[in-house]
Amino acid sequence: MRPKLLALACLALAASLSLLAGGCESSRQRFERAARLTGGNPYAGRMKMTQYGCQTCHTIPGVTGAHALVGPPLIHWSQRSYIAGELPNTPENLTRWLQHPPQVEPKTAMPEMGVTEQDSRDIAAYLYTIH
Ligand code: HEC
Repeated sequence: MRPKLLALACLALAASLSLLAGGCESSRQRFERAARLTGGNPYAGRMKMTQYGCQTCHTIPGVTGAHALVGPPLIHWSQRSYIAGELPNTPENLTRWLQHPPQVEPKTAMPEMGVTEQDSRDIAAYLYTIH
């Protein structure tokens, strides 16, 4: 009986530890993963979004003053399947969208803003840290 109980306790401990490790990615880990995924710098991306004025149209978690609802709120971005209901949400598609929205969707209300290749990578990196 005793060894069995001990084994059970060990199993429960192991299970809860692995749950902790998998379920609680730190924000630094999230930023590192997004950087690897996109080849961009999420810290720079967060700053660049306010320079381009994305917050005048979007609610963006983690960006001060970004509460607008002209465009869709960019919440849970890393879990979204589609970009603007058009493109599968991949890093390549997202950088393309950020640079040339009307090329993807001619009637879109999101304007061409002159976002550079590098800036679109950095901004995409930040968006993928939003879970
Ligand atoms: C003038 C308002 C406006 C500005 C400025 C703007 N957007 Fe948008 N954005 C929109 C609208 C409207 C949509 C919805 C587009 C559609 O579905 O056709 C959109 C869609 C998006 C999407 C896809 C959202 C989804 O739910 O699929 C992303 C990502 C995005 N914008 C990021 C940005 C970023 C980053 C910036 C700054 C570089 C920015 N936007 C600037 C209006 C704007």
